[in-house]
Amino acid sequence: MPKPAWVKGGPRIVKPIPGPRAKRLVARDERVMSPSYTRAEPITASEGWGCYVRDVDGNVILDLSSGMFVLNYGYSHPRLVRAVERQLTKLTHFAGTDLYYEAQVELAEQLVKLVPGKFSKRVYFGNSGAEAVEAAFKCARWHTRRPRMIAYTGAFHGRTFGAMSLSSVNVLHHRYFYPLVPGVSFMPFPYCYRCLFGQSYPGCDFLCFEFIKERLRHEVPPEEVAAIITEPIMGSAGYIIPPPEYYKMVKELCEEYDWLFIADEIQTGLGRTGKMFAMEHWGVVPDIVCVAKALAGGIAPIGATIASAKVMDWEPGAHASTFGGNIIACAAALEGLKILREQKLVKRAAELGDLALKRLKEWEDKFRLVGEVRGRGLMLAIELVKDKGTKERAVKERDMVVRAALNRGLLVFRGGRSVIRIAPPLIISQRELELGLNILEEALREVERKC
Ligand SMILES: Cc1ncc(COP(=O)(O)O)c(C=O)c1O
Repeated sequence: MPKPAWVKGGPRIVKPIPGPRAKRLVARDERVMSPSYTRAEPITASEGWGCYVRDVDGNVILDLSSGMFVLNYGYSHPRLVRAVERQLTKLTHFAGTDLYYEAQVELAEQLVKLVPGKFSKRVYFGNSGAEAVEAAFKCARWHTRRPRMIAYTGAFHGRTFGAMSLSSVNVLHHRYFYPLVPGVSFMPFPYCYRCLFGQSYPGCDFLCFEFIKERLRHEVPPEEVAAIITEPIMGSAGYIIPPPEYYKMVKELCEEYDWLFIADEIQTGLGRTGKMFAMEHWGVVPDIVCVAKALAGGIAPIGATIASAKVMDWEPGAHASTFGGNIIACAAALEGLKILREQKLVKRAAELGDLALKRLKEWEDKFRLVGEVRGRGLMLAIELVKDKGTKERAVKERDMVVRAALNRGLLVFRGGRSVIRIAPPLIISQRELELGLNILEEALREVERKC
């Protein structure tokens, strides 16, 4: 598969988005698709390559969101496509829940080696991030026989009942769906830029953590808690990064009360943050790790829940799904992991991320609207504020920047309430990343001129 000619000229808008074909597609979509999807921009796709996607009107867009954090190897990676073609001609499906095939076992063997922890582990395969979290939730209850869970305010773990019950990024995810799975207590996440306790790190005495302990004394009997679940870097809420000491303290609490530590690495895992798994930044080994999104590079849906063998001890029939770890997804995931290793993409994410973060950090002084820049590896965020003193969120301005970038052929994603998320494919070249940041800088300048 040679590089298509349309990629060569880089990002360009030939018909303002939405162009005439995009308008027609969006109108058809609105007539038949569930209105529950959140389509913030009328962006359509007809083909993709590397970091670029071409819309139905011929606009070429540089995608610094990796198709919503999925395309870590870029669009249509030729090796992934070939691996799937090879698999398709050999075997398209087999009942992995009841019978055996090698690709599934081999992927599990690789995952148990990659996930931190020098103990034996087991893998459950599902079809999505939410399913990976559901499995972690059920597995934690089964193993501990305890009814409660602790999760974080602002977290997003998916939209099935279990995953939704552990999530609280936006109240609309819960509205009219009550009753949820009972027994979940939400604790404040260490969002240091907006500390709920009015403190500033360092020197804050970790009041957010003390608050958890306080609730354990008053409302949440710790011996009834099965597990605490966290996104190591809170994703949908806008890439919020806890301080270096934080997860060690959480792990100590887990040890004190025999809780399991579940890391939802669905956005952060597989090299995105410059480590294979983001928890490695804190040196904490979780009991259960959830991955999905980038695992099969966007070729096929897959989710995986990897737990210590001691913890994943449920009985046959306790949990399974027909297509979980299907053979096509496994073939793509195995090839993807090979690419990750051979092209040293984790190291690359760390190096390119450091370069980008250095440049973006300068924007905190350069732009009136930029309140805080944060990131690890190629998981970067810019939080926009109307006023750096009050930190009032610049929601409209953030939306304007995202749109101004799109008008120039750049796709970045919203996060939290006034955050721009940047998460390019790990195969991005330094030149492409710089080009993307140039466009984003122009977009910010344009919006500052207008506001
Ligand atoms: C951290 C995290 N967990 C879970 C999910 C849910 O994944 P899925 O949409 O594949 O169910 C997401 C999706 O954005 C996520 O970012």
